[in-house]
Amino acid sequence: MDTRQRILTGIRPTGPLHLGHYAGALENWVRLQTRYDCHFLIADYQVSDYADDVRRVREAVWEVALDWLAVGLDPERSAFVIESLVPEHAELALWLGWFLPLGMLQRNPTLKAEMEEFGRASVPVAFFTYPVMQVANILLPRAHLVPVGEDQLPHIELTREVARRFNRQFGEVFPEPEGLVGRVPRLVGIDGRAKMSKSLDNAIYLKDSAAVVQAKVRSMYTDPTRLRATDPGHVEGNPVFLYHDTFNPDRDEVADLADRYRRGAVGDVEVKDRLATALNAFLEPIRERRARFEADMGRVRDAVAAGTARARESARATMALVREALDLDYLDKFRAG
Ligand code: TRP
Repeated sequence: MDTRQRILTGIRPTGPLHLGHYAGALENWVRLQTRYDCHFLIADYQVSDYADDVRRVREAVWEVALDWLAVGLDPERSAFVIESLVPEHAELALWLGWFLPLGMLQRNPTLKAEMEEFGRASVPVAFFTYPVMQVANILLPRAHLVPVGEDQLPHIELTREVARRFNRQFGEVFPEPEGLVGRVPRLVGIDGRAKMSKSLDNAIYLKDSAAVVQAKVRSMYTDPTRLRATDPGHVEGNPVFLYHDTFNPDRDEVADLADRYRRGAVGDVEVKDRLATALNAFLEPIRERRARFEADMGRVRDAVAAGTARARESARATMALVREALDLDYLDKFRAG
């Protein structure tokens, strides 16, 4: 029997993954998969904001799977799971809605911010309730640990609350899961905005070619107060240096560049070109692995199918506990008399 603790985490299939995903979450996933029984979920129920572009989310499923394989997630070890093919997620979400007060959902800061972006009036019901689905995602495999980006922590708080309420009433059915945020909780975008994101069009993708990475880095926002290479520059909060700190393993080079930048003894172009070189050195093996899997999509498909089947087994086992707790088999147990 597998006695390892379990991880459940996931991503919405909306497109290819970027450096922010890597530093905020994926890096942890790769590291943790040797110690935990991992379920990595492709959350295809939770894309109601793409209802007018279903084709895109279908294509994105494979983008996500390829990026996972490319960064070194191992489907022999970890289950890659398509959410909608484990319909117990939907079933459990409906039951768990009994134990989640509406006010907690309305106060959820991540959900609130996302709904503002959407334009409140047009938010689909499924969007408002996606955190409930996420609670079900985490509780269905009875996960202990949820490694995610910082913006997901409010959803994990909801999950803990639901687990506590359920357990208080029915006994210890669900572990109370912990969140775990990556080395860089939130990576800035290449435009200097607070968050790298596809919708803001300020991302460097794991699958970007070396030339695209070079061009994107050249276009990066730096220190706006610095007009000439001889002006003393600001390193703190400067996206180019934040990326150097995150992705350039040559600490001496980074320290030297920062020192010269502060003194006005290095140009932006040199700092950027060295960043592009470091990023490409980091991304090259990822791109190579991705290309190898892309040439063998049958294998990718089989990996996802196998992981989904594995998740379905544990889903059935949990649902048996839930049915028992909620006394749902009353029809079978019925005795006339
Ligand atoms: N909502 C998460 C995101 O936008 C994706 C997600 C779906 C998830 N289900 C999950 C994350 C379960 C962790 C656990 O990134």
